Amino acid sequence: MYKELIDKLEREQRLSFNEYLILIKNRDKIREYAVQRAAAVRDKHYGKKVYIRGLIELSSYCKNDCYYCGIRHSNKNCQRYRLSADDILICADNGYKLGFRTFVLQGGEDAYYTDELLCGVIRSIKEKYPDCAVTLSLGERSYESYKALKEAGADRYLLRHETCNKEHYEKLHPKEMSFERRMKCLRELKELGYQTGAGFMVGSPYQSEADLASELIFLKELQPHMVGIGPFIAHSDTPFKDFECGTAELTLFMLSLIRLTLPNVLLPATTALGTIHPLGREMGIEAGANVLMPNLSPSEVRKKYMLYDNKICTGDEAAQCISCLSKRVETTGCEIVNDRGDYKNEV
Ligand code: 5AD
Ligand code: FES
Repeated sequence: MYKELIDKLEREQRLSFNEYLILIKNRDKIREYAVQRAAAVRDKHYGKKVYIRGLIELSSYCKNDCYYCGIRHSNKNCQRYRLSADDILICADNGYKLGFRTFVLQGGEDAYYTDELLCGVIRSIKEKYPDCAVTLSLGERSYESYKALKEAGADRYLLRHETCNKEHYEKLHPKEMSFERRMKCLRELKELGYQTGAGFMVGSPYQSEADLASELIFLKELQPHMVGIGPFIAHSDTPFKDFECGTAELTLFMLSLIRLTLPNVLLPATTALGTIHPLGREMGIEAGANVLMPNLSPSEVRKKYMLYDNKICTGDEAAQCISCLSKRVETTGCEIVNDRGDYKNEV
């Protein structure tokens, strides 16, 4: 019966809420088959190619106070830093030489990064490297700001919705943060023509299996180009320090269900997955993921961008990460490629 549900999902690329929930509740009995079908669907659309995105963590300042996040405003123990426009360009130069053709500028919500500053950085990167994509992951901004950044040349934007359930959203965030505003931002990003990424944590505090089934219904409706998911990992200086972490097992199953639901989606095997399990990223690729996002930030700042405890790869140079990742990816039968890795619309 579970096998029939996976087959139906592969055929129709959607299930009902109840069907998703049955699969999630009974994942132990069907996980291997889910992995096998999800990998086949990934292969059909993207082959064995794994795309790499150079992550530049430009600021550990953040005005928000998400209860789960290590760089939340109230964390007095977080060391704060900002990369200047020049620092960012140096990271991109370094990344280009290493084969990266996508740069992801990610950071906390930090007013230092005005539209003017960011547009300048985006234009410089695009002028110097017209063959590269620029992805932004800078949280909630105004429509005008998203528009200006798009016009400056940004191609993609990642903004995890964190949960599609408003009540749940309000348990993860203080009252200053609004579920509706988050959803509005996602709609605007899509409307402005960004390749848009949404996503959520698996096993976040108060999340139920029904919430996870709802995530799949929500993603099907939103039709994002990218979906970033990773296990929740407690950070010891946050209000959620005593909550249990999410598991690799459930994250992997969700990756497979997402691949089957959105066959063309760009799906990273995240650093959080590699943190919770030593082979998490490899297993993520086997379960249908096709993107990796190694860190290109300068070594001096890496340990200051601790979203959760024990984050991996904070001591390595980008070049080391690339050779490490190449070997890891090889064990899965896939292969890292050096192209932009845009979303494929066609079958
Ligand atoms: N555990 C796992 N993921 C986290 N993120 C933030 N804090 C944590 C944590 N403690 C994720 C959020 C955010 C992304 C940049 O990192 O989903 O959107
Ligand atoms: Fe960074 Fe392995 S990916 S050291």
